[in-house]
Amino acid sequence: MSAGAVPPFAVVPGAQVQRALQGREKQVVELVEATYRWHAAGDSVNPPSYFLRFPDRPSARIIALPASIGGDVRVDGIKWISSFPDNVAAGIPRASAVLVLNDHDTGYPFACLEASVISATRTAASAAAAADWLSRGRRGGRPARVGFVGTGLIARYVHTYLAATGWSFDEVGVHDLSADSAAGFRGYLEQSGTSARLTVHPTAEELIRASDLVVFATVASAPHVSDVSWFDHAPLVLHVSLRDLAPEVLLASTNLVDDVEHCLKADTSPHLVEQRTGNRDFLLGTLADVMTGRVTVPEGRPVVFSPFGLGVLDLAVGKAVYDAVAAAGELHVVEDFFSELRRHG
Ligand SMILES: NC(=O)c1ccc[n+]([C@@H]2O[C@H](COP(=O)([O-])OP(=O)(O)OC[C@H]3O[C@@H](n4cnc5c(N)ncnc54)[C@H](O)[C@@H]3O)[C@@H](O)[C@H]2O)c1
Repeated sequence: MSAGAVPPFAVVPGAQVQRALQGREKQVVELVEATYRWHAAGDSVNPPSYFLRFPDRPSARIIALPASIGGDVRVDGIKWISSFPDNVAAGIPRASAVLVLNDHDTGYPFACLEASVISATRTAASAAAAADWLSRGRRGGRPARVGFVGTGLIARYVHTYLAATGWSFDEVGVHDLSADSAAGFRGYLEQSGTSARLTVHPTAEELIRASDLVVFATVASAPHVSDVSWFDHAPLVLHVSLRDLAPEVLLASTNLVDDVEHCLKADTSPHLVEQRTGNRDFLLGTLADVMTGRVTVPEGRPVVFSPFGLGVLDLAVGKAVYDAVAAAGELHVVEDFFSELRRHG
């Protein structure tokens, strides 16, 4: 869009977002990888997320993720995502979100997209990219035994993304504090047509010991896994929920993050390690460092990837959704959304 022209404003509902992303898992992973590279090269602006919390609802929060991404995408915007854990007991999803895209040249917002699906998608694509890059050259090849600790929406998206990007498993383990969640995830796995053997583990310990790829997608607010010996077999750990692992576990592992400044905040497990040790020596680097060959992941230790979740990823995936809906001629434009367009009336 050129400077001087006010872009039309469109609303993109969740069903359109899902249709636009359906079956495009490989392209989305490639886009997320490209976005990590642009971000690492400095072609982005990604300030700290802002956490809005409420004294009367201590478990709830709404997070603002403003960002700007360059590369082939060139868009600014913000994701505004709520987490209300009590929703789950009421039978509705915990998280809900919108993404606003702003035009690069005029700054005008030109789209508001349903973003819970975009957020889950970019998180799963980032996890699939990390699983791929961090298992390259690994002794014994790609892990064939995966285990999910916490089996809500994000776990389902991560499994879908792994399966769609070429992973196949002999065994899938499941552990959740909620038997309903574990059973629901098991039902999803059975419907997904997997040939893997499915096991619901009564404890996190049993699941971790039985898995070479471990995905944490809980809503734990403080570490609940601290026994380093559970990781003696050096699994690859996707620590998506960020606060499950005690400092001891991270200190016995090779640690990678998506962005160092972002991840060492908000009492994430890596942040707890920094608070305890007073330094960042425990970090090997970022996923982009691995992708560009700046660092090499050593053999023989657990590898833990803790992704804070970057607003630039939401923008990149959101813009791809917008472009697909626009190309199909299906944008729901809100006519005259901006009405005061002459400076002096
Ligand atoms: N890093 C990122 O980029 C990113 C992005 C999106 C979501 N997340 C995080 O992913 C997590 C999962 O999100 P979701 O939408 O799937 O949530 P969800 O509420 O749908 O599912 C979470 C599940 O974890 C289970 N659980 C809670 N504590 C547990 C524990 N100690 N052990 C085992 N299971 C436990 C719950 O019973 C529930 O089934 C959240 O913490 C969210 O903040 C991270």
